[in-house]
Amino acid sequence: MYLLILTTLLAQTLGLTAPGVASDINAVNHVAANTLPFPSHQLFQFGQLGTWIENVAARSNGDLLFTLLQPTPQLYTLTAVQSNNPQATLLYTFPDMTGLLGITEVAPDIFVVAGGKFHGTADPIFGTFSLWQVSFADSHIPCKINCSPDNKQPSFKKLLDLPDHVYPNGLTSVPGRLGVILVTDSTGSLLRVDVNSNQVDTVAAVPEMVPVPGWPFLMGINGIKIYNGYVYWSNSFAATMYRMAIDKDGFPVPTSYSSSDTAMTTDPAASIPSFTPKVEASIDFTNVTVETVVFMPITFMDDFAISDDGTLWITTNPNNTVVAYNQDTAKSAVVAGEQTQEVMAGVNAAVFGRTATDSHILYVVTAGGLNSPVNGTFVEPAKVMAIDTSNAAAVGF
Ligand SMILES: *[C@@H]1O[C@H](CO)[C@@H](O)[C@H](O)[C@H]1NC(C)=O
Ligand SMILES: *[C@@H]1O[C@H](CO)[C@@H](O)[C@H](O)[C@H]1NC(C)=O
Ligand SMILES: *[C@@H]1O[C@H](CO)[C@@H](O)[C@H](O)[C@H]1NC(C)=O
Repeated sequence: MYLLILTTLLAQTLGLTAPGVASDINAVNHVAANTLPFPSHQLFQFGQLGTWIENVAARSNGDLLFTLLQPTPQLYTLTAVQSNNPQATLLYTFPDMTGLLGITEVAPDIFVVAGGKFHGTADPIFGTFSLWQVSFADSHIPCKINCSPDNKQPSFKKLLDLPDHVYPNGLTSVPGRLGVILVTDSTGSLLRVDVNSNQVDTVAAVPEMVPVPGWPFLMGINGIKIYNGYVYWSNSFAATMYRMAIDKDGFPVPTSYSSSDTAMTTDPAASIPSFTPKVEASIDFTNVTVETVVFMPITFMDDFAISDDGTLWITTNPNNTVVAYNQDTAKSAVVAGEQTQEVMAGVNAAVFGRTATDSHILYVVTAGGLNSPVNGTFVEPAKVMAIDTSNAAAVGF
């Protein structure tokens, strides 16, 4: 409630033209009523209620991979994505977990997935998380059912446990550094993991990553992407996108390091009594500059995609919409879904297609309103949707 009031006040105080504040979402929507929302269609929906797709990745061959958070920790592939009859196939059920979270490609056709145990929705069990490798590159196992065009099934192996972390959630790969990823810990920090050596460093823990107090879920820094030398992250209940400059190895800049461990000066996890995060590399946070990219008048900012021109394509989960934000013009618009409609019910992650014929398609996955029913009552099985952004330029994206 506090944040909602603050949100409204901020939007009013800062006004419609303030850069970095997407308070003109509806205005843009109105002006471009002939082209918005963009056309979308359903590619796949589970047959059962209680399903929550959490994240999605696109393979270079055009297939999609998606992770299931509830009710089981499973990885699926969606093949024939651009046909009239896409096929979903279960690839693997992960052991010793209750749910999967983020996924990122770390080398050609090799992915890393995070997962762990939860007491309940967004209620992770400390120290139960691990990172797994899913490789289509080293696989020689012939496919038997619903095969993708390359006729191979991936191999799976656990890379490492993350016993010292609470909520490893979003994953993204550092460009040009095979096997180096940045991982959001939604309780308030940013990890850098090199899966070649299994080295894990907490490389940032700043107030902009900390969960906003007063909400039922400990969910601060969540979605993550790297674009043009910056790491971008959503702080979900702050409804704000932030960014920070990183170097070519994925470390925040400017920073300074020493060999000794240094406890953080801020306390991002004050609301988690048993947890005191530590920064492995000693980083001078006073010299790390966090920029606010955009604040949105929504309740929750979930995962997002960034297109080549820097436009952010943000999913809003309980607000049942996908919102685009052009960083150059500060223009924003709801491009899919509506608060009271089921079309994007619980939409929570997005990725652009990677082939010549679908690079304009934004693939999104949903939780079906599981945690926040549409109109307070409507829940549906999780699904995968395709949003056609061909008209993006016409409406300023
Ligand atoms: C941080 O920046 C200040 C001002 O530029 C500089 O004087 C200081 O040496 C920097 N600290 C570190 C540890 O690099
Ligand atoms: C976003 O969704 C929440 C949960 O359904 C709702 O309470 C809130 O009013 C919505 N906010 C906006 C700005 O639509
Ligand atoms: C939510 O309520 C609105 C207004 O009554 C209605 O138009 C809409 O169809 C409802 N949505 C769902 C998913 O039932």
